[in-house]
Amino acid sequence: MEFLKENMLFLAPMAKITTLPFRVYCRKFNPDIITCTELISVKSIEYNLKKDDCFSKRLSSLIQQDSVKDRPCGIQLFGYEPESFRKAVSFINNRYTDFDFIDINMGCPVPKVVRPGAGAALLKESKFRTAKDIVSTVIKNTGLPVSIKIRLGWKTPNFVADKYIKLAADEGCSFITIHCRYADDTYGVKPREIDKVISLVEKTDIPIVYNGGITNYEEAEKYWYDHKFKGVMIGRAVKGNPYCLQPKGGHRIDHTIEERIDAFILLLKVMKDYKASIADIFPHIRLLRGIIPRQELNFKVINMVLNHSIEEIQTCLTEKKSLSSLVPEPSI
Ligand SMILES: Cc1cc2nc3c(=O)[nH]c(=O)nc-3n(C[C@H](O)[C@H](O)[C@H](O)COP(=O)(O)O)c2cc1C
Repeated sequence: MEFLKENMLFLAPMAKITTLPFRVYCRKFNPDIITCTELISVKSIEYNLKKDDCFSKRLSSLIQQDSVKDRPCGIQLFGYEPESFRKAVSFINNRYTDFDFIDINMGCPVPKVVRPGAGAALLKESKFRTAKDIVSTVIKNTGLPVSIKIRLGWKTPNFVADKYIKLAADEGCSFITIHCRYADDTYGVKPREIDKVISLVEKTDIPIVYNGGITNYEEAEKYWYDHKFKGVMIGRAVKGNPYCLQPKGGHRIDHTIEERIDAFILLLKVMKDYKASIADIFPHIRLLRGIIPRQELNFKVINMVLNHSIEEIQTCLTEKKSLSSLVPEPSI
């Protein structure tokens, strides 16, 4: 529980983005962040265990840890049956001993997750009992701190965050993260009901982590110091601006072209250390916006990365030579 303190800064779990190499990369900008794997299906753990006790490549990479370079780090699980959680958690206890907490996803609105009753579907009134059973099962079967990550509710304006704060506190969760949108909100909708959630912070002892729309460290400070949240979680802002995790100067506009090139080169180096695939670089290409014309960005960066050494790419970018000298023309 050592990592649970005042003013915690979390990197939000993001599917296909917050891979182990990306989490390690983010720590280069702020070593004090708390990270988490993306959501991992307890059913898929159960299925892989049944097969031959040998995880598929995809599952192994989702659950990959670096016990030195990525701590504290949690594992986020999703599912809809307490028994599947029990099996997955027992397995993690035995085999993946370097996680620092287990987070239960109750916020993902993606159809294939909510259809069987997992993710944000656990916020439906009819699923409250199941949500409670899942939390108590996980807590009973692990010695690790357990948290839940929720949205405001399943359907706007049916606010249930207060009930889930109580659930988390009653069952013995170590903290709860609230993404201040409803499950039927798109990301275009501004985070809502923030004042309502702020008022709940004072009414409970369980630490609450604020999530939604934070774009830099200064904004996080407001939630810690003015609104008394124990933690703040930053998600999408980190893509293309990892500097936002730094205590000073995290605004996107603060960063010079040189700083963005440095951040991109650092990304390539970390990705290379972990033998990440080219697909892992995709979400971060926006670091080079304004340096490479937007319409050419994906093509040029992918070709550059596939065909040239990091040193060549660095020289080319920093000397602002035309990238076309590095990038072969597309063969049509
Ligand atoms: C591409 C993407 C993938 C996400 N994957 C997850 C996930 O695996 N688990 C989860 O709890 N939330 C996931 N989220 C939600 C984020 O953790 C976070 O709650 C949301 O982005 C709001 O925070 P932000 O406004 O700082 O981005 C994802 C969001 C995005 C954009």
